Amino acid sequence: MSVKILGIESSCDETAAAVVSDGREILSGVVASQIDVHQKYGGVVPELASREHLRQIVPVVREAMEQAHLKLADLDAIAVTHGPGLVGALLVGITYGKTLAAALGKPLIPVNHLEGHVHAVFLEAHRAGRIAKLPAVCLIVSGGHTVLYEVTPKDEQSADASGLLRYRKIGQTRDDAAGEAYDKVAKLLALGYPGGPILDRLAAAGNGTPPPVRFGPTRMKGNALDFSFSGLKTAVLYHLREHPEYSEEIRQREEAIRRGEKSFAQLLPLCNAQTLALVREFQNAVVRDLVDRTMAAAEHMAAESILVSGGVAANSHLRTVFEERAGKAGIALFFPSRALSTDNAAMIAAAAYPHFRAGEFADASLNADPALTLA
Ligand code: KG4
Ligand code: ZN
Repeated sequence: MSVKILGIESSCDETAAAVVSDGREILSGVVASQIDVHQKYGGVVPELASREHLRQIVPVVREAMEQAHLKLADLDAIAVTHGPGLVGALLVGITYGKTLAAALGKPLIPVNHLEGHVHAVFLEAHRAGRIAKLPAVCLIVSGGHTVLYEVTPKDEQSADASGLLRYRKIGQTRDDAAGEAYDKVAKLLALGYPGGPILDRLAAAGNGTPPPVRFGPTRMKGNALDFSFSGLKTAVLYHLREHPEYSEEIRQREEAIRRGEKSFAQLLPLCNAQTLALVREFQNAVVRDLVDRTMAAAEHMAAESILVSGGVAANSHLRTVFEERAGKAGIALFFPSRALSTDNAAMIAAAAYPHFRAGEFADASLNADPALTLA
């Protein structure tokens, strides 16, 4: 009999539920995004996030169960994200998960959101019939995190990711996360929220106009595997201030967004060649830093695999550059599908499975841990 785990995720601005069988087979996955709620503030507003989670959690779980053609009694365990994230948002999922587990008499498994992102990669690998060999270097790159881990099996006899894993943090951002830099630069340019998806497409839409400014690699004192993105965002800000020719276009886009015209097709005609070249230069700088440091870590540690996950892992240019570089270095590269890159609950249910087998359960005292770390 397979082990069916219901995963619940509510750490940020997505309310999600999914059922995963044996940690690898996705039986259902539902994600209710709050983008429309937070968009006009240009970022996630914690109070609004909690309220939306409260509204969404019951219908989202119900839909996940229906999609999986299962009854709650068929589940073997309930897994819930207990950190890191927004405390009020986390508490909605935790309280619901606890209650459900108690009512059903099933075990409750607390999952670290970051370990969820790691398992998003394994879910996709399984779907593609691939096995990620360990040790691996894992880059988690999202709106809240930019961090590099070394991933090894806890059981030294094992060479893959089927059991409990051990994480060692080898680098992290000292200021903004990469996704946050995308979101902030999109805000400066009046390109809506979140910034990543639209900047990704605008960067690819340019006609090869040379960049209006160059952003060099960020050099780090101390740990060379650390990241920093706030300087890049500030460089974009200064460039825009020094060049008044951008302001009329920015004003037009602000108006378009106010009218609700915020799609790529609607905003593209409001971006001239210089803006597109600027977006491309920004993206090139972010991607270069992410890839250079991850490759340096992987080569230094003789990693078998490179795993990339989190919202920014959906980025097309990041995928292309990683494929080139990992291919040249002969290191196996793993990305989740775009849907599994951003926050979802299948990754939470998948990450719970090895803990289920190890009997690592929580009791009713489980609390949210907004600053929970993985290593
Ligand atoms: O993992 P995620 O859904 O939530 C967090 O845990 O933060 O990541 C959301 C972040 C946002 O900052 C968003 O702008 C970024 O991921 N993002 C992208 C792309 N799609 C989403 N960044 C760059 N390129 C993309 N295609
Ligand atoms: Zn996330």
